[in-house]
Amino acid sequence: MMTINRNILTLDEFTIMQLRGFPAATGELSSLFRDLGLAAKRVNVEVNKAGLVDILGDAGSVNVQGEDVKKLDIYANNQFMGVLKHGISCAGIGSEELDDFVVFDDEVSNNSKYVVQFDPLDGSGNIDVNISIGTIFSVYRRVSEVGKPCTKADFLQAGNRQVAAGYMIYGSSTMFVYATKLGVNGFTLDPAIGEFCLSHPNIKCPSSGNVYSVNHGHFFRYSEGVRNYINACQKKDKSNGGPYTQRYIGSMVADVHRNLMKGGIFMYPGTVDKPLGKLRLLYECNPFAYIIEMAGGRATDGKQRIMDIQPTFLHQRTPFFIGSMDMMNELDTYITGEK
Ligand code: AHG
Ligand code: MN
Ligand code: MN
Ligand code: MN
Repeated sequence: MMTINRNILTLDEFTIMQLRGFPAATGELSSLFRDLGLAAKRVNVEVNKAGLVDILGDAGSVNVQGEDVKKLDIYANNQFMGVLKHGISCAGIGSEELDDFVVFDDEVSNNSKYVVQFDPLDGSGNIDVNISIGTIFSVYRRVSEVGKPCTKADFLQAGNRQVAAGYMIYGSSTMFVYATKLGVNGFTLDPAIGEFCLSHPNIKCPSSGNVYSVNHGHFFRYSEGVRNYINACQKKDKSNGGPYTQRYIGSMVADVHRNLMKGGIFMYPGTVDKPLGKLRLLYECNPFAYIIEMAGGRATDGKQRIMDIQPTFLHQRTPFFIGSMDMMNELDTYITGEK
């Protein structure tokens, strides 16, 4: 007689169970996670056979960021936009790969409660060399009147108004990690049944760690305080929480996921030529800031809490520092007061 392992909860079972405590819940958020999970499974199929089908390489266009768009960027964007447009939960989206916000403006969508910002494929530069990549998303309850098309105000809410945020990582396994005010939980895709199954319940970021992630290639263009902190990381030894290891693979999803699980700090500082750095506030920094704070860590722009920044446009960038509480607090002693 085959025993059924019933303590493995699927994503759907888990999200519905979480909502049991909220009688007013309509199930739209559960449905939204199901939609996102479906798109992630479809992207995962293409990522896993990327060398065998015509999905690698450049799409031959440049996006609004000025980046060469990869075929998988477009594929992933269309998968996530498609499930959100045809679902019951989302009134509109913002995406790294689209010039402006998209208001779905159909009868079902106009009655939906949420808007979603997403980076359909993070770490695009790593696609062709088989290094982990991911998807990042952020969920807001709309502030505009339900029943009508959503508006720009729905999309330009500060990160402290997120109701959920998460990411998928297409790596040695495919994971779906998301946070709500109830905590951070990780699900691993079981290819045998095509379901995300709870594998990392109640994720907490260790208060400290010994990994620091930064692009050393820009070192001499960072501020003096950032350079001093990086030098301090390199001088750590057993007497003060070291020695530290430097890990930076060019996919923020993979770097931040590792630091979330093991402890560490990830930095994408501003530079003299690009004072706002590279990472985008709405669909890269805010979602990870929400997740890391729910897991006990911190995320700042070097001066303020990332989630307190009032956004002004879809693709705005911000310097980004995120990680274990103690490491972020030590970083502050080097950069506080900098211009
Ligand atoms: P995306 O692929 O969505 O454009 O984002 C890439 C980002 C982030 O994932 C990564 O940490 C960073 O770019 C790497 O930038 P550098 O190569 O400039 O270090
Ligand atoms: Mn990009
Ligand atoms: Mn990205
Ligand atoms: Mn991207």
